Amino acid sequence: MSAILKATTPSAPEKILPCPAPCSNENNPELLATQDSSSYRSLYEPLVNGIPTEPQRSAAADFLRDSLRDTPVGADDLPSSGADLMAWMEASMQAVHGKYQHYLQTRQSGAPRQYFANRSHALYFLRQVAPTKLVDGSWLYGLCAYADNPRLSDLVVTYLEELGNGDADKNHVTLYRGLLARYGLDPIDDLPDAHYEQGLIQLALGWNAQEFLPEIVGFNLAYEQLPLHLLISAYELNELGIDPYYFTLHVTVDNTDTGHARRACQAAIDAAPRMDDGGEYWRRLRAGAKLGDLGVGTLDVIRGFNIDHEVVRIFSHKAPAGHGAHSDFCKVAGRKVNDWLADPKNVPAFLAALEHGGWIKKNQPAAESRFWNLLQGDRAEMFGVFSPYELQVIHDWIRGDASGDGASFETTTQAQSTGAVAQVPRRPLSFRVAERLRLAKGATSSTNTLSPASNEHQWLDTDLSLLREQLPTLGPAEQRDLLVRAMSPALHWTPAGLMATKAFIDRTYAV
Ligand SMILES: [Fe+2]
Repeated sequence: MSAILKATTPSAPEKILPCPAPCSNENNPELLATQDSSSYRSLYEPLVNGIPTEPQRSAAADFLRDSLRDTPVGADDLPSSGADLMAWMEASMQAVHGKYQHYLQTRQSGAPRQYFANRSHALYFLRQVAPTKLVDGSWLYGLCAYADNPRLSDLVVTYLEELGNGDADKNHVTLYRGLLARYGLDPIDDLPDAHYEQGLIQLALGWNAQEFLPEIVGFNLAYEQLPLHLLISAYELNELGIDPYYFTLHVTVDNTDTGHARRACQAAIDAAPRMDDGGEYWRRLRAGAKLGDLGVGTLDVIRGFNIDHEVVRIFSHKAPAGHGAHSDFCKVAGRKVNDWLADPKNVPAFLAALEHGGWIKKNQPAAESRFWNLLQGDRAEMFGVFSPYELQVIHDWIRGDASGDGASFETTTQAQSTGAVAQVPRRPLSFRVAERLRLAKGATSSTNTLSPASNEHQWLDTDLSLLREQLPTLGPAEQRDLLVRAMSPALHWTPAGLMATKAFIDRTYAV
């Protein structure tokens, strides 16, 4: 008998499919050694990279209990009963729309961007929030096993929509992974541990649905309402020429008419007990709603950007690879570059020496810095050393205040190669305008080009092979169990997960 036949719910700890490790350190003893076993990330990783074991799920549940205990009672704007939920949702939406209109008016009258000082600031934001975005929707995962209960159907449908109903170009995690790859924001292996807290909360809820149903309903209720920061982020990303689709998609799917925001209210009403519980359900729902406020929030991340610190971080992270890679002739301020890079602590002094030695000319066009020309341009000796994101940060750091125009480092590179540095446009095109121009020239859409092909016959994938092999050998209950496992946070965005999502929808909602 295979392991599959023993498993009946997603809470069972066995591993059926070999799971991919999108940002796992499982095979990296050095990174593992640096991870505190009580860190958020050490709890997060097993929940996102596979089917967690019983002790791992139980540790996540303990973490949730602690988080709920630490969450202050009251101090939310939720109504005191489900009867007022729809009115509450409408009022919240009106308030957000009003603030957004005010934002637009100030921008149209010449106010600067409110969130992102330059392009690297926006990309920094996308990278820092990745641990949360890469588990988007996961708080609802545990309800898939109970999809037959009509009182949970709004929540299950919401989860399926987070998964794009099995379409790669609508799966929220696939879209975010595409965004990271497209702008060179990988790897994300050195983010502060605090950035994993919110993602851990979401995963912990998803893997412990039986114990935390009211909290899941409450979390979903608060999290699916349209926040102002989503609207402003999307607006400013587009303005900086960065694909805002992941964010605009959430503006549309969270809408209060038919979207996730209304569905979340309906789900809270549907799941409420008909029998008297003395107000316990509503109390727990409100506590769950507050879990979305824990961890490092969107505005905290945006305010936390300091380009000097980010440049130092980038060089410090690169130092171990660069140490020993330079010849003895490479010297800055009379000291060998290999020596400078021997200890990441030298990085601030090294950068200062580069500046004093004229290698870097701050507050000038990047192409006027000899150091920049080593990184980019024809026959650049250090081409490929820095990722596209890192190059953008260095580019904006060198340019100083002028980087507020949002220019991409690629524009500078193109201008260098054509000798047209003086003609670099002062203001880059917004993403949407650039996309329209590209399409008018006959190009295909660049949005979501990194998503897996929509034709599953083109997929070559180990989990997909296993799924196809195992599914026909099982009875109906075990088949559904396997599909639910393949729709877990570790797998739903992969070819196997996308196929499983479609098969699950066919079986669950077939008429
Ligand atoms: Fe989402």
